[in-house]
Amino acid sequence: MFQIQTMNKISPAGLDNFDRTKYTWGDEMNEPDAIMVRSAALHEMEFPASLKAIARAGAGVNNIPVDKCSEQGIVVFNTPGANANAVKEMVIMALLMASRKVAASMDWVKTLKGNGAEVTKLVEKGKSQFAGPEIMGKKLGVIGLGAIGILVANAAQALGMTVYGYDPYISVDGAWGLSQSVIHANSLKEIYENCDYITLHVPATKETKGCINASSIKMMKPGVRILNFARGELVETADLLEALDERQVKVYLTDFPTDEMLDHPGVVAFPHLGASTPESEDNCARMAALELIDFLENGNIKNS
Ligand code: MLT
Repeated sequence: MFQIQTMNKISPAGLDNFDRTKYTWGDEMNEPDAIMVRSAALHEMEFPASLKAIARAGAGVNNIPVDKCSEQGIVVFNTPGANANAVKEMVIMALLMASRKVAASMDWVKTLKGNGAEVTKLVEKGKSQFAGPEIMGKKLGVIGLGAIGILVANAAQALGMTVYGYDPYISVDGAWGLSQSVIHANSLKEIYENCDYITLHVPATKETKGCINASSIKMMKPGVRILNFARGELVETADLLEALDERQVKVYLTDFPTDEMLDHPGVVAFPHLGASTPESEDNCARMAALELIDFLENGNIKNS
């Protein structure tokens, strides 16, 4: 009998092609063989000797002490792609909001006082402050062509944008499922110099941390709009805020705002909510459970 400790109320609901009699699942296990986790941070956790694997229901593994796990022989899995559609939908919504100041305009409408006709007049008088350009025909640079980057690139293209794709590890030709008409950028510089909008879809690694900084921003088109729904560490906060003050960057949309960003009018901050849909949570939980089952029963390691 395998014991799987489930955290963050995660459950492999809807998964039926495995032998349930071989497993006990629950949030308290005395000798867990594996842990399934969503976003709880496990850095401080003492891992029991019985533990052989941890599956993160999500793409990033920053909430798991990966080095400690490898020292202790614990395999760490993730679920790449399982929440990609949900995140894509969030990013496309943000892309439109990067142009049309929708969030601010909605807040503003709620502040208007008066009867129906008076409010209509106030709207007519004040609405032009929220005008913004269409995205059709504009250039979008997608940095990172994993599952999310590919879906974002394809969807933005369907909205009429000219899309440039760049990934340090995958060629645009090798990015499975990427629309053939996405332009293959050979370097980040090409993205920076050409694009009106830039969206980040890379993990935070030694190579990518701080990649949006004073010198990369200097290469970008003045008034560029930047989206970061990937990881906060990709951006040097002070450099970004300075560029927003100088209008080199028009707007920054992120679900990883730092304290300093929250009051800045050029920052549109979201909670980290991109993957929070029931569909994506089920997909991630199912994929994580299947990975653990295949590992515990057959020793197979996929997405580690
Ligand atoms: C991921 O790492 O999968 C996304 O950032 C969403 C999440 O943290 O659940």
